[in-house]
Amino acid sequence: MGRPKLLATRPLFPAAQTILNASCDVDYWTQPERITKEELFRRIHDKDGLVCLLTEKVNEELLAVAPKLRIAANVAVGYDNITVADCTKRGVAATNTPGVLDETTADFAWTLLMAVARRLGEGEALARSGQWKGWDLDQLVGADVFGKTLGVVGFGRIGRAVASRARGFQMKVLYYDAMRAPLDVERGFHAEYRDLNSLLADSDFVSVHVPLLPETRGLFNAKTFSQMKPTSFLINTSRGPVVDEAALVQALESKKIAGAALDVYEKEPLIHAGLKRPNVVLAPHIASASLETRTKMACMAAENVIALFNGQRPLNILNPEVLKAS
Ligand SMILES: NC(=O)c1ccc[n+]([C@@H]2O[C@H](COP(=O)([O-])OP(=O)(O)OC[C@H]3O[C@@H](n4cnc5c(N)ncnc54)[C@H](O)[C@@H]3O)[C@@H](O)[C@H]2O)c1
Repeated sequence: MGRPKLLATRPLFPAAQTILNASCDVDYWTQPERITKEELFRRIHDKDGLVCLLTEKVNEELLAVAPKLRIAANVAVGYDNITVADCTKRGVAATNTPGVLDETTADFAWTLLMAVARRLGEGEALARSGQWKGWDLDQLVGADVFGKTLGVVGFGRIGRAVASRARGFQMKVLYYDAMRAPLDVERGFHAEYRDLNSLLADSDFVSVHVPLLPETRGLFNAKTFSQMKPTSFLINTSRGPVVDEAALVQALESKKIAGAALDVYEKEPLIHAGLKRPNVVLAPHIASASLETRTKMACMAAENVIALFNGQRPLNILNPEVLKAS
């Protein structure tokens, strides 16, 4: 095979371009607006590889118009935009970028947690408004973080990185996961396993770190919100559909919980109008967005592509069975 032909749905970063350009011919989508589905389908038909973002769906519909495709390399750890089974059926390798974004994403979960607890959004707006009349005793009083209880839902790489930061705030850490962690891990993170109901009942801050799967879609719903403390806050940096937004709005309106801080939404880039309220902090899906980390993610995706075309096993292959078949 000559130089593989690739489509990258973003220009990526120079470091990742250097990796790809050394041995591949890459068609980079460089327009400021996102690539349309039609344009993606038009450009993919003669490509051997795809470097894509979580905003592109890789499923049978796309694969059907990409007969030469051998790899879809997602620049994200979450890969709910890729139907891995469809890729496997067509012998297409699918890869993601785990590990390199854990600390940056955990930092941002804490940014949101602190912001919603201490009403930073409201305070920032007031400070900029020209309406601030000066210090006052009960002005924008929020909730303490220090010494409270943090509930981590999904105790994987990012959930654990979030938990480890709680020690500095002398917080009690509870966690819930589909798979209980080994005891030495629990001890290492000073984290106590609870079932979801018990975690929700006892946590002051609930931070969500599960992948989007059929079982986690709508995991936070009217029932779960009713189990939380009225003084508690929900922080979601996982995927939007893990939270039923209509139920969240209802829980906020009826004061079932005190507030929420969100990075992700059910129908991005749309944000439910009912979430645009003072006790909700809204971020535009930027939890992993430091320059260092986004560069590492793009380079990792590039390395996955290069490994495949060099006849090696991509480090982050999600469907290794396609390698055995070839
Ligand atoms: N907002 C962002 O920009 C951003 C950045 C990075 C990751 N994420 C999201 O965070 C997710 C977690 O990333 P990670 O690297 O920590 O993944 P991970 O696989 O290391 O951890 C996920 C954990 O969730 C648990 N889990 C799976 N299904 C569950 C269920 N039904 N109930 C309870 N627990 C369940 C798993 O056992 C695992 O421990 C990603 O899938 C991605 O969607 C978002």
